[in-house]
Amino acid sequence: MDHETLQFYRRNAEAYAGWTKAPSARLAGFLALLPKGGAVLELGCGAGNHAAVMLAGGFAVRVTDGSPEMAAVAARRLSYPVEAMLFDELNAQEAYDGVWASACLLHVPRTELADILSRIHRALKPSGLFYASYKIGHDDGRDSIGRYYNYPSPEWLQATYAASGRWTQLSSGTSEIKGFDEAPATMLHVVVRKAAD
Ligand SMILES: C[S@@+](CC[C@H](N)C(=O)[O-])C[C@H]1O[C@@H](n2cnc3c(N)ncnc32)[C@H](O)[C@@H]1O
Repeated sequence: MDHETLQFYRRNAEAYAGWTKAPSARLAGFLALLPKGGAVLELGCGAGNHAAVMLAGGFAVRVTDGSPEMAAVAARRLSYPVEAMLFDELNAQEAYDGVWASACLLHVPRTELADILSRIHRALKPSGLFYASYKIGHDDGRDSIGRYYNYPSPEWLQATYAASGRWTQLSSGTSEIKGFDEAPATMLHVVVRKAAD
């Protein structure tokens, strides 16, 4: 975990929630692949915009964020419980049909990402689905407002997923965005399925 990044989301929870854009268009496609009313874990929920869509769709959602302040903002906006949980506190086993991690695992230090991915693998039911998005790059580093990013290349990410457990890749694509720091970035969106043992 990167303390400086977490502190950013603790100190700026309201400002970040006020800036947050519309939910990702990719969420509908992800939810369509899950069983009706299935169990979904959201990591790093931020303002809760994606959780709102999942709840409206009738899914049984566990909504979490590592910043207690951000979790409180999301809980207020959703009128729904949001847990303050760090990625490395995830200890569930075969509990979820899907794990949704939009633009949050990009803050996990490179040396820790395989461990977090293996926790997600363990938390998924057999054949469970996992979405995550990252800012593409080559070397890890910080943005102009101090947040750490792992900035993976697709190749590095693929090797790190492979080191964390057995996955089947379903899709991967990119989009151009402008972050809270105002800088343009290319996002890599990855959907994988937990492979049968
Ligand atoms: C860029 S925001 C993305 C928010 C939301 N998922 C979205 O797509 O709009 C990253 C989120 O990850 C959370 N986060 C950062 N480090 C974390 C950690 N170690 N454990 C859990 N959550 C963390 C932050 O508090 C923040 O809400």
